[in-house]
Amino acid sequence: MQINNTSSIVTGGASGLGFATATRLARAGSKVVILDLPTSDGRVAAESIGATFVAADVTDEAQVNAALDAACGLGEMRIVMHCAGRGGALRILDKEGEPGSLEHYENIVRINLIGSFNVLRLAAARMARLEEREGERGVVVLTASIAAFEGQIGQIPYASSKAGIVGMTLVAARDLATRRIRVNTIAPGVFDTPILARLPEKVKAALGEAVPNPSRLGQPDEFAQLAQHIIENPMLNGETIRLDGALRMGPR
Ligand SMILES: NC(=O)c1ccc[n+]([C@@H]2O[C@H](COP(=O)([O-])OP(=O)(O)OC[C@H]3O[C@@H](n4cnc5c(N)ncnc54)[C@H](O)[C@@H]3O)[C@@H](O)[C@H]2O)c1
Repeated sequence: MQINNTSSIVTGGASGLGFATATRLARAGSKVVILDLPTSDGRVAAESIGATFVAADVTDEAQVNAALDAACGLGEMRIVMHCAGRGGALRILDKEGEPGSLEHYENIVRINLIGSFNVLRLAAARMARLEEREGERGVVVLTASIAAFEGQIGQIPYASSKAGIVGMTLVAARDLATRRIRVNTIAPGVFDTPILARLPEKVKAALGEAVPNPSRLGQPDEFAQLAQHIIENPMLNGETIRLDGALRMGPR
């Protein structure tokens, strides 16, 4: 899918991996809508790259539809980059042996997994109404994490919600094949984004050193580069691609 002369929506686009991808898409000639929470820096981020900001929660049907309306109003919305997500630590049993909070677990799964399905289904409905361009109607890129495969102790809500996104990828690509909409997922390792900004420099450095090669944190634009390739390569479909410098995580 050629990026030029499209419109696109980037969820979680106010920050980190989403913002880097929104920047790339805008530079490549797409009219970008950044969908992010009202509490985010979305307005400033969007202004800095000539994009449009729509405040929305990915779990809310009406709010996501309003953001999709905005994207469809800017051109043919053929690209969905779904980066919104959050972490959240939880042990199955706490120190006293009490069961971990079901409410906390549900909240993370709701944002990461249910939010992904919500964006996928509502965006696909719009794309399916477009005429084909170069044999396809659109591309959806979801964001998982290598925690989907090797989540560490304390990451049970995050790891299982991201594993759900990996599980969704092939079935979504097959389901939407007749509509000529491709679906792929990126599973990042450790990237230098505001998620990590809260960590002390020493901890950040140790995270980078744990990556075999290149032995550093990923740069957000390296994620955006892969997103661009996925969008542009029509043969890439139904796949989850790890982007992690060969990092494999231990149990903790
Ligand atoms: N940075 C990493 O090392 C890393 C590694 C693996 C996976 N990821 C995944 O990549 C994605 C982007 O992460 P990032 O590092 O750029 O983090 P980030 O915190 O910089 O960006 C995430 C954005 O998502 C938005 N968001 C959160 N919940 C939302 C909701 N309910 N509705 C709309 N927007 C919401 C936040 O406001 C934020 O702007 C996330 O899904 C994250 O799980 C990141």
